[in-house]
Amino acid sequence: MLSSLTYPGYSETAFRRLLDTHGYVYLNEIPDGFDHTDFCRRYGELMPQYDGKLHYLIRAEEEFQHLNHSLTTNPLQPHTDGYEFTGAPPRHLALWCLFPPSDGGGRTTLCDLYPFLDTLDEEDRRTLAERRYRFLSGIEDTSVERSALHPVLDEGDAARPTVRFSPDFVEGDAFLTDVTGRLLDYFQRHHVEIAYETNALLFWDNLRMVHGRTGYEDRRRQLRRVWLR
Ligand SMILES: [Fe+2]
Repeated sequence: MLSSLTYPGYSETAFRRLLDTHGYVYLNEIPDGFDHTDFCRRYGELMPQYDGKLHYLIRAEEEFQHLNHSLTTNPLQPHTDGYEFTGAPPRHLALWCLFPPSDGGGRTTLCDLYPFLDTLDEEDRRTLAERRYRFLSGIEDTSVERSALHPVLDEGDAARPTVRFSPDFVEGDAFLTDVTGRLLDYFQRHHVEIAYETNALLFWDNLRMVHGRTGYEDRRRQLRRVWLR
């Protein structure tokens, strides 16, 4: 069952409760003309996207189709956003749907990693918190080049650890390859898939959730993304 709420049934308390419990909320039955950006600002300050703007339009572009990139119709492997930032990654992410694809694809996949961390033994968990890895930018169009050295797990705030994860854009080692395999296996068994309705908003905690996408064909699909500090 999805962690979802209808907009007519929305209250900030209900939204925060779902977000705390499940790490995400799918808010649907949102009317036309709704100001999604204004809504998101209730939960944090907007952070600039890769192009410096506060919004990012996700629509497949032919020029990126051969890449592992959000602006394609390709499936995307689970990851967190901002793993290659030297500073803190976005605390929350929101995507809302301008135009849903007609083919049932293009679903956002989500999985809570806090229960996954509980499956690790103490030594693995400590290694994930101590060993630093070089994360590379997943934006492969060469206009953005970033990299940063971080542990996968930051337990500075023990109650709310930060996970940085990319199966593709990290210079790993045998240990990380092994943990990545276990994580992807966990993801396969436990993720949810969100099929958007027009105007619906998906909001999640980027410190604890990995997200990805199923592939699709209908190039009319359009989502908008914001990152929140
Ligand atoms: Fe992403």
